[in-house]
Amino acid sequence: MAAGRALLWSQTGIAAVAPISSSMRFRAKRLASSFPFLVCRCPSSLVSTSVRCYNRPQSEVVSGELKTSGKEENFVLTTPLYYVNAPPHMGSAYTTIAADAIARFQRLLGKRVVFITGTDEHGEKIAAAAEASGSSPSEHCDTISQSYKILWKELDISYDKFIRTTDQKHEAIVKEFYSRVLNNGDIYRADYEGLYCVNCEEYKDEKELLENNCCPMHLKPCVLRKEDNYFFALSKYQKALEDYISSNPDFVKPSFRLNEVQGWITNGLKDFSISRSTVEWGIPVPNDKTQTIYVWFDALLGYITALSEDSEQSNLQQAVNSGWPASLHLIGKDILRFHAVYWPAMLLSAGLSIPNMVFGHGFLTKDGMKMGKSLGNTLEPMDLVQKFGADAVRYFFLREVEFGNDGDYSEERFVNIVNAHLANTIGNLLNRTLGLLKKNCQSTLPYDSIFAVEGNSFKDSVSQLVEKAKYHYENLSLSSACECILEIGNVGNLYIDKNAPWSRFKQGGASSEMAAKDLVIILEAMRIIAAALSPVAPSLCFRIYSQLGFSKEQFEAVTWDDTRWGELKAGRVMAEAKPVFAKIENNQDRDKKGSPEEGKNKKILRQGLVEA
Ligand code: MSP
Repeated sequence: MAAGRALLWSQTGIAAVAPISSSMRFRAKRLASSFPFLVCRCPSSLVSTSVRCYNRPQSEVVSGELKTSGKEENFVLTTPLYYVNAPPHMGSAYTTIAADAIARFQRLLGKRVVFITGTDEHGEKIAAAAEASGSSPSEHCDTISQSYKILWKELDISYDKFIRTTDQKHEAIVKEFYSRVLNNGDIYRADYEGLYCVNCEEYKDEKELLENNCCPMHLKPCVLRKEDNYFFALSKYQKALEDYISSNPDFVKPSFRLNEVQGWITNGLKDFSISRSTVEWGIPVPNDKTQTIYVWFDALLGYITALSEDSEQSNLQQAVNSGWPASLHLIGKDILRFHAVYWPAMLLSAGLSIPNMVFGHGFLTKDGMKMGKSLGNTLEPMDLVQKFGADAVRYFFLREVEFGNDGDYSEERFVNIVNAHLANTIGNLLNRTLGLLKKNCQSTLPYDSIFAVEGNSFKDSVSQLVEKAKYHYENLSLSSACECILEIGNVGNLYIDKNAPWSRFKQGGASSEMAAKDLVIILEAMRIIAAALSPVAPSLCFRIYSQLGFSKEQFEAVTWDDTRWGELKAGRVMAEAKPVFAKIENNQDRDKKGSPEEGKNKKILRQGLVEA
């Protein structure tokens, strides 16, 4: 069917014109014949001129870097709210790990961070999963939502707010938001017929589908649905969104995803259905108990609800006043349209600010296919954490996958990277330096680190790498940030190998003094590595700090300023040298050692690391 427009009517009685696509067939109901007095007050072609002014969010993006302005340096960061159809897999954990690293980095900068995560619990997909598991939807949601919390604990995720879309306070806010949009004349009722992917919880355009109307993401056929629904007048916001994006080009990152978003908008925005007459498991549409609110319209608002305090009587404006707009929505690329097109339009309609930035990362893949429950090709994050520890899992995915692009997982690569970087470059360097300090200086620093490094260009190399790491963190180039920090370790290893303090100590006199200074220099570099890498591998970095004689409280008080040279002072006593990161035994080592079963049981070697 050729694209066209139909006159439709809103719940407030305001008529609108909506475009019709080939796979969407609206049938306008009770139109002019029944209500001849209705005038089309806001045809979509004209509405852009009457769209309410929106405030520039309080945060500003400066050349792609996230900056917050104003006296209160707030940084509100969100992960997607995860569907509770099944427990989390590595794909869902990936977004949360990245968000956690960003949140921790922003805290180091001294920002007041609100890190929001949670679960998306309504809709057909969840109701079907509950039925399949033989439990009621709410029991099912409780169980699966809890499994996310357990995993986040295991992965050292430092979220501030965990929102469940079945929380009571959320329902009140969704209804209030719906009423605002309705009062703005942006909701109308119409018949709808289209192809629906239950896994995406989205009506699809035939053009996007594979053979047999299969969803390209889930490779399952979409089902033909015909319903009488309420619609959101997205088309009305076409011009406003075009304008917003052209004046805020950093709204969508990475920049190649911005092109995708611009393409969707310029191709024409279609109104979308925001209620379901066939789904009971959802928030009822205000004033129409026969319909529930579409799961995406409901879930996106979770970002705002999360800001309200549990003790408060829930109220949209109050939640908004507690920190909206978000500084950053971190999402996977599959849900970009919802966040970069639907969501800003919904916010404009309700007179609320648009978030500062939406960053769409790539997929973790297995054999080139998106890892996911629907395809059954997942990697269990809990298994990985139990086998290798949270630091290894966090570090590997953030270092190995260029943030924004897809990345394939292989255990061999995992073991190689983690062993080379964390066990050898960092762990071994610390361990052998502490060993030398114990042997030659009774584990006590003989000099201030500032004094030890005088006239030595090593300090400048470290400072430059730290500056670069900061720049990359700020620009969400997490892999590059890790690379710069690891480079400090590489430079440190080269330095110690070249200067061979173990030989200088044997020479005594001035050589011995130089050797002692070298140890202080390396230990100060280790401290800086630990401060700078703490957003990525917090437990490992704490272990480094405690080996350097700091308490948990001192580690927790670290800020980005502590990446400056000069914290270690003469007289500080180091802790007993222990490996801070246990080397992982790889398959080859296992084969050499004995049967696969034996190998499996001894996967992580708690072995001492080589002392020079
Ligand atoms: N419930 C919606 C989000 C609503 S936000 C208001 C949803 N949930 S989801 O559980 O299906 O996906 C959550 C996130 O996990 C998405 O950002 C998705 O891209 C991400 N991932 C799921 N599988 C993934 C990979 N294999 N790799 C990387 N991330 C992927 O969508």
